[in-house]
Amino acid sequence: MTGFVDIAKIIDGKKDNEQVNVRGWLWNSRSSGGILFLMIRDGTGILQCTVNKRNVDEANYNKLEKLTQESSLEVSGIVKKDQRALNGYELSVNNLGTVYIAQPDFPIAKKDHGLEFLMDNRHLWIRDPKLMNIFRIRSKFMESARKYFWENEYTEIQSPSFQTGACEGGSTLFEVKYFERKGVYLSQSWQLYAEAMMSSVGKIFTLAPSFRAEPSRTRRHLSEFWHLECEEPWSNLNNINETGDRLVCYIAHKLANEMPREVKNAGRDPNELLKLKPPFPKITYDEAVEIVQKSGTEMNWGDDFGWQQEEPLTKEFETPFWVRGFPTGIKPFYHMPDPARPEVTLSSDLLAPEGYGEIIGGGQRVHDYDQLVQRIINDGFIPEDYGWYTDLRKWGTVPHSGFGLGVERVLCWMLKLEHIRDAIPFPRDMRRVYP
Ligand code: 4AD
Ligand code: MG
Repeated sequence: MTGFVDIAKIIDGKKDNEQVNVRGWLWNSRSSGGILFLMIRDGTGILQCTVNKRNVDEANYNKLEKLTQESSLEVSGIVKKDQRALNGYELSVNNLGTVYIAQPDFPIAKKDHGLEFLMDNRHLWIRDPKLMNIFRIRSKFMESARKYFWENEYTEIQSPSFQTGACEGGSTLFEVKYFERKGVYLSQSWQLYAEAMMSSVGKIFTLAPSFRAEPSRTRRHLSEFWHLECEEPWSNLNNINETGDRLVCYIAHKLANEMPREVKNAGRDPNELLKLKPPFPKITYDEAVEIVQKSGTEMNWGDDFGWQQEEPLTKEFETPFWVRGFPTGIKPFYHMPDPARPEVTLSSDLLAPEGYGEIIGGGQRVHDYDQLVQRIINDGFIPEDYGWYTDLRKWGTVPHSGFGLGVERVLCWMLKLEHIRDAIPFPRDMRRVYP
């Protein structure tokens, strides 16, 4: 057989009544009254293929009837609209091409398996149509994120994953064996390098993994996540929030417009994404604390938000919203204290509604040399360890701002997923680095 059609084209209604060739993997099959129903996946979608004894020769029918799950095969047939079929179309099969028969004991076939078992078999579980659908949307997400920045004249930059200092606090650093040298860690964020690169090429962004030794297992923490970060010279807190508003809306609209069927299958009505528009609401940290306290959840001024605090807060909003002005004591040294009120910083987190919580963290950076050195000391670090970083304030300093967006966090919210593990093919957490 030559010339194959993607299943996505068929279920999008572009091949109605045509004779086509399809190839993929057998997800499952059943037979009823001389008709076989084969569910075939090809990486773009899943299609019901019906095989009527009358339409194929006997040898092929017998072969298909015995076909094991995950066998790979090529079939030909006529596309037919059918409301009863998953995705609204089916293929009425009339010929069979190459077949590679899978072993009969596919480990995660049918039975209800526990989560640990499925995670041990993640290399096979990722074939699940639900996961496959999410990963295809994830690819569109990455494409849209880059497009937003490119269309707005940002330069894409890569920064090192081996770093010698903390950016987001010492407690979540992964130390690595780096030849003979001690004190080398996996990157928590590109930020410090971004602040250097911005004086070379101006507005910049990156899309890269970040690493956090998160000691807790929650539905929103990974120890390796994909981080979409940007940095802008001549930019203050309001400017950078505006960038966040436009970026998030741009991605949401792209997913809804270009993959409406996939977004709906993942669990989100695409119209809800299309309704988002900038700017998102802004509240102060002080207001946020009051809302949390009123909801009956414990929180004092000066505390950081955990998910227990974010949850009641996010129920008050229908769109993402900014919380701004976090206390100086709970934000890393690079955050600029508010000149009008030095006990808080020009920082901001974007929180997603429906209990999802923080999806972006960022704000305006300290650009004054002496102030930065003092902030580093106050955080318990040694300024000399950050020598190159403080240098940046000596030559050509400007007010500047940036943020980091957690790709999996945003996917969870946009697609209404229950757990962050489903937003990434091979999730890493405290207990899992295999497979
Ligand atoms: O708030 P964070 O720690 O901020 C930074 O790293 C800044 N240096 C970014 C910057 O200004 N360039 O992390 C940013 C975002 C969070 O809002 C969250 O969405 C995501 O990264 N994130 C995680 N996602 C999954 N698992 C984790 N363990 C995460 N930690 C942070
Ligand atoms: Mg944060």
